[in-house]
Formats: sequence, C-alpha cells, structure tokens
Amino acid sequence: MYTIGSKSFTAVAINTASKAGEWIKSKLGGIREINLKQSSQDLVTEIDKGAEKLIRNLILTHFPDHSILGEEGVEPGPAASAKALQDMSDAEYLWIVDPIDGTTNFVHGFPFFCVSIALAHRGEVIVAAIYDPMKDELYVAEKGKGAYLRGKVLQVSGEQTLAQSLVATGFPPDQQYALPLNLAGVASIGPKVRNLRVAGSAALHMAYVAAGRLSGFWEIGLNSWDVAAGALLIQESGGRVTDTEGRPYTLAVRNMLATNGHIHDEMVTELTKVQ
Ligand code: IPD
Ligand code: CA
Ligand code: CA
Repeated sequence: MYTIGSKSFTAVAINTASKAGEWIKSKLGGIREINLKQSSQDLVTEIDKGAEKLIRNLILTHFPDHSILGEEGVEPGPAASAKALQDMSDAEYLWIVDPIDGTTNFVHGFPFFCVSIALAHRGEVIVAAIYDPMKDELYVAEKGKGAYLRGKVLQVSGEQTLAQSLVATGFPPDQQYALPLNLAGVASIGPKVRNLRVAGSAALHMAYVAAGRLSGFWEIGLNSWDVAAGALLIQESGGRVTDTEGRPYTLAVRNMLATNGHIHDEMVTELTKVQ
C-alpha cells in the first residue's frame, strides 16, 4: 500500500536509521565541536548535524516530493518547534527525524542514544524506526501491522499497578518550565513505583516501553521528533500513548505519557495532581 517505486517507506526508514546509526557510532569519542543551544544543558555536535544531513539525503533520494522535519533544521525552543510543525501541517508525507536522541549521552560516551525516524501521512504516523547502534537494536513499526525487534513481535509489559512498575522519565533542558514540572512528577511518582530510570533518551525509553522493558515513560516539554516514532511503536505493541493529562496523542503533543496501558490511568491521576 505504501510503496513508491521499488522501495517501501519502511525499507527506507530501516535503511536510513541503520546507516545513520552506524555512522554516529563510528564517531563516538571523536567529536570536534560541542555547541550549546537553548541552555547549558542543551548540546549539539557536528555529528548531530552530519547525521541529519545524511538522513535527509537518503530519504530524498527515494522520495524527492516528501517533506522532512528534522531537529537540526529548526531553531531551538518550544515556540520554534511548534511553528515548524504547524508550517508542515499540509504535507502529505512528512518524515520526522531526530538524528541523535540522547546527544548528552553521546558526548559523554554513555551508551544510550538512538536515531529516531517516523513517517506521518496527513498527520498520522504510519512508519517508525528507532535504531540503537550500541546494542545494534532496530525497532520497527508499521501502522496496523505491529512492531518488531530482530524479527520478533514486540509486546508491552503486563504490570497492572504502579507499585509493580519500572517507569522512566527525562530531565529536560528547559529549566524554566519543563524541568520543574518534571521534578514535581518525579517527587509524586517516584515513591509509588518499583523504581524510576532517567537514562537520557526519550525515544529509546519509548522503544523500551514497546519492548516491555519499561512499564511506562513520561516527560514534559518534548518535541515531535523525540516521540513520533516511539508513539507508533508503543501503540503497535499494545500500549497506550496520550499527553500527561490523558488526551489523545497527536504530533503536537509535548507532554508525553506512554505506558503498557494498565498503569495509564494511575499515571494520569498522579501527573495531573502536580501540573
Ligand atoms: C533529549 C533527550 C532527553 C530528554 C530531552 C531531549 P536530544 O533529546 O530525549 O532524554 O530529556 O528532553 O531534548 O537533545 O538528545 O535529541
Ligand atoms: Ca531528542
Ligand atoms: Ca537530537
């Protein structure tokens, strides 16, 4: 159904994510330029920019008419991200790309980062590929066809309560708005769950929810490219994806809540209390 020419959308997403990931991995420890974006917590390197260029070139080679929204093509800050997404809202096919999700980890050599690529058709994500080059794990999903890792069908975990759950979050670089809200969420949810993890890549945390390795994930103040691929992976693995107040996921959602489904309402209740 989603085939143009000889390559399917999914094949291009897989090929592009894995090529970019291998290139990024080959640059680990060899970063030449570390620049700050919005704040001293928000880093970007020449590898982020190079990877996005490589991804754009590969996608446009196959689909020259498609649109691409990539993190490194957008000015920093929530207003610019929202505007960039709005400006592309008419695109029939929109690729949403985070060339490195987890740049801080990449800079420090902490092996938890990934390439995240989603394809939306008229605003709905239909293909997702997340590649973790350090573990050589490629997560793939197609709308209505399930999610896969190494040929195995992914399924979310079965924990029924917060008390049984391993939940992840992030510490966002926006210290004015997003970080304080997230810390309030940590104070509220931390004591109720089995444990919390904050490993520094929203997209990879979401892939872990899809794979049943985490029961849930939330973070305030994310961008479309952090979560678009992860959202489809989780939906296709039987989980639930909304904003932190329980409203349906759209590309514009910035306050992400993604779970195995069972703990979703409990998470919404806790997060709504502190927002
Ligand atoms: C960041 C990571 C991090 C999250 C931040 C994101 P980047 O993305 O996903 O885990 O806490 O909010 O900005 O900058 O590494 O692509
Ligand atoms: Ca990101
Ligand atoms: Ca990034």
